[in-house]
Amino acid sequence: MRETIAVLGTGVIGHSVALLCAEKGFNVKMYGPNVEALELGFKGIDGDLDRLVKENKTDESGRRDIRDRISGVTTTKEVADGVDFVIECLPENLELKQKFYKELDELCPKEIILSSSTSGLSPTAMAETATKHPERIVVAHFWNPPHLVPLVEVVPGEKTSEEVVDKTCQWMEKIDRVPVRMKKECLGFIGNRLQFALLREALYIVEQGYADIEAVDKTVEYSFARRLPVTGPIKSADLGGLDTFSKISNYLFKDLCNYDESFEMLEDLVAQEKFGTKSREGFYKWNDENLQSIQLKRAQLLNEFLQRDAQVK
Ligand SMILES: NC(=O)c1ccc[n+]([C@@H]2O[C@H](COP(=O)([O-])OP(=O)(O)OC[C@H]3O[C@@H](n4cnc5c(N)ncnc54)[C@H](O)[C@@H]3O)[C@@H](O)[C@H]2O)c1
Repeated sequence: MRETIAVLGTGVIGHSVALLCAEKGFNVKMYGPNVEALELGFKGIDGDLDRLVKENKTDESGRRDIRDRISGVTTTKEVADGVDFVIECLPENLELKQKFYKELDELCPKEIILSSSTSGLSPTAMAETATKHPERIVVAHFWNPPHLVPLVEVVPGEKTSEEVVDKTCQWMEKIDRVPVRMKKECLGFIGNRLQFALLREALYIVEQGYADIEAVDKTVEYSFARRLPVTGPIKSADLGGLDTFSKISNYLFKDLCNYDESFEMLEDLVAQEKFGTKSREGFYKWNDENLQSIQLKRAQLLNEFLQRDAQVK
């Protein structure tokens, strides 16, 4: 019988995870707090399905099958009923998530894994109120958009069992994602630590007047970003030669940014409500044309990577 995955949340991550799971053949129960939230989720799913049809990834009958496998629910009781795996994508708010874990811990049979797509909240803290079975609470951190970016960081809390981590990695493989297993939790997990270390240095270069924002972005886009899909930073060091990397580390590390707070230029933009593309201005200025163009470019590249991944499988 077809297994059922419950996805809690219909927003940026929730609707995309729901689509991904249905695309991979699972029944999906998408939870939203009310009918309006569900409508928003289905609108997002329909938009993504339109694109999949346009790109010939599925046809009209495939679209209907995928859509039919997703049902909307508005109570945790419905979430728990007959569910095989839970992926929670609710807002990044510890108290809210704790409340849901407590309810789900009471409602779902104890062997059902409760996973969270939190960007950085502690799985140990999230499990604190679910006192009966904290061993089944684990982070499965997707990257946006989950149906196009394969990685999922699987992060155990202090009480998460090894079996739950193993099984969560297996679930991620079943929905065609690439799980990376952490040994223990830390702030930002792996990906956001690396991403924000790069952002801190990028902004530092601008702040110090060494280069402007366009030069910084271009340097990444046309240099080491081209290699990173094949060789991550540690493999890249092996390919570059560790003797050379050691020499550079010894003179450069002490010159790199070591700020432990955000940048004035970032905080100033936020204070002026310049949030980036969502308010049409951030470090850059955005309009419909340049925004759609960059979104299309990014989606096309992500799709090319997915096709290449499928070929080497
Ligand atoms: N947005 C990203 O780029 C991204 C990437 C990776 C992980 N995440 C993580 O995924 C999770 C979801 O993020 P998102 O960006 O999809 O959020 P979102 O705000 O887009 O969606 C949140 C969902 O939760 C629902 N919701 C809001 N308040 C609620 C309440 N009180 N009770 C029940 N449901 C409620 C909303 O209706 C919506 O369906 C967060 O933990 C976030 O950190 C986000």
